[in-house]
Amino acid sequence: MSGSRKFFVGGNWKMNGDKAAIDGIVDFMKKGPLNPNTEVVVGCPQCYLSYTREKLPAEIGVAAQNCYKVAKGAFTGEISPAMVKDCGCEWVILGHSERRNVFNEPDQLISEKVGHALEAGLKVIPCIGEKLDERESNRTEEVVFAQMKALVPNISDWSRVVIAYEPVWAIGTGKTASPEQAQDVHAKLRQWLTENVSAEVAESCRIIYGGSVSPSNCAELAKMGDIDGFLVGGASLKPDFVTIINARG
Ligand code: PGA
Repeated sequence: MSGSRKFFVGGNWKMNGDKAAIDGIVDFMKKGPLNPNTEVVVGCPQCYLSYTREKLPAEIGVAAQNCYKVAKGAFTGEISPAMVKDCGCEWVILGHSERRNVFNEPDQLISEKVGHALEAGLKVIPCIGEKLDERESNRTEEVVFAQMKALVPNISDWSRVVIAYEPVWAIGTGKTASPEQAQDVHAKLRQWLTENVSAEVAESCRIIYGGSVSPSNCAELAKMGDIDGFLVGGASLKPDFVTIINARG
């Protein structure tokens, strides 16, 4: 039953924006109106975490888009979950396909990052998803199940995890998975959770869809029983984001 899972919409600004652009986003998000039954989080560049946290209303969460797997040390260029928290933020997106494919982050590293972020008290949005050639060779399940399997040993608290299923071929391409395609993978992931974690986790864990979500496709996607929300890239920078937040009506 999707009814027990609060609809969740995350924005992923990626490496976009500056303070002036953030002010504009804050304005349209404050204006909303945002459905109070939807949990909303925005993922912003790390140098703007504090700025964004100070500007946005408290009920909107702020996420880092990455962080490292230990609390501190000689890791030039990295930030830790403790630093994200110190900026007033509670969330982190980990294992986004751009981290996996542009920065070559392997499953094991992502899993360790998820583990440490949870231990440090953050809430985590781990991302999984298949590439186009993997889908075309009927390997979608194999790929996403392997990504899930790598995560599970490091997940100590599923109540602070929201899984983002983002087919790589749909990200930033304008090519969305159809509601049926997305629902199919979400249902299989939930079944996988039943078999490999527990029925309780399968029932309560939110699985959100990402990949070219827009005001024109969000309502149909939101109707699917196993789609518990979205992770939105490009459209989260525009007032369109409000429409997507309110997709469940
Ligand atoms: P997109 O990005 O909505 O621009 O396709 C989604 C994401 O990468 O999270």
